[in-house]
Amino acid sequence: MNKILTFANQKGGVGKTTCALNIAACLARSGKKVLCVDSDPQGNLTSGLGVSKRCGGDTVYDVLIGRVKASEAIVKTQVRGLNLIPSGMTLVGAELELVDEENREYRLRDALSLVKDEYDYIIIDCPPSLGLLTVNALAASDGVVIPVLCEYFSLEGLSQLSITIKQIKKLYNPALELVGVLINMFDGRLNLSLQVMEEIKRYFRDKLIATPIPRNVRISESPSHGLPVTEYDRNSKGAAAFAMAAREIDKRCGGM
Ligand SMILES: Nc1ncnc2c1ncn2[C@@H]1O[C@H](COP(=O)(O)OP(=O)(O)OP(=O)(O)O)[C@@H](O)[C@H]1O
Ligand SMILES: [Mg+2]
Repeated sequence: MNKILTFANQKGGVGKTTCALNIAACLARSGKKVLCVDSDPQGNLTSGLGVSKRCGGDTVYDVLIGRVKASEAIVKTQVRGLNLIPSGMTLVGAELELVDEENREYRLRDALSLVKDEYDYIIIDCPPSLGLLTVNALAASDGVVIPVLCEYFSLEGLSQLSITIKQIKKLYNPALELVGVLINMFDGRLNLSLQVMEEIKRYFRDKLIATPIPRNVRISESPSHGLPVTEYDRNSKGAAAFAMAAREIDKRCGGM
């Protein structure tokens, strides 16, 4: 099927990295060949998969500036079927360095096109901003998944996000599709969560992914062990929710 998906939201701390990492791991567990791309200078996805943030080795930065091919920067992770192009400190300067470069929005797309056929899914994690790294990710992608929290401020950001996706489609990638909105850190005991979920449903309709990811302590513990929650505690509520959400995302991508 060969789909490239970006997990994006300009809001910080909503679970972009957590969802990207765990959905990728669930897809790999179901037998897909998956490549994660950590396009965030913070490198949380890299360390969350138990790979040390690179000081010397090749990273997404080296791929973006064209120093190495994507295939040369790929490393294996502890999860079978899941590979990674790591982030590293050098990525901090990438946005500034690329500003004057030709083809600057399409660096990642062109680089990944050489490895796309080898993977069922390429999953890209972005920083919490709409800079060149995020634009590169969205320009390279077939679909975008938007993790959101069930909070009042999320609602304020939703229309902004829709506008942003429209702009990206128009300017850089007409083929980009919204795969789904994934509610994260859901707490069904809170009235506010339920109300906000209804609002999101009203706004995005069938684009809302039916399985919300619960707030779950196993999910927050797992990165410090360098593992997705599905490997760290496969009987946890978090692992079960990610497995269901991944199935739904896989199904949606099949129809894309
Ligand atoms: N469902 C969840 N249950 C419990 N903790 C969670 C859950 N999802 C995310 N977290 C925790 O919340 C914090 C923020 O998550 P994460 O780093 O994935 O967000 P992010 O959107 O990638 O942040 P940034 O914008 O900085 O990249 C992390 O400490 C993570 O472990
Ligand atoms: Mg992150």
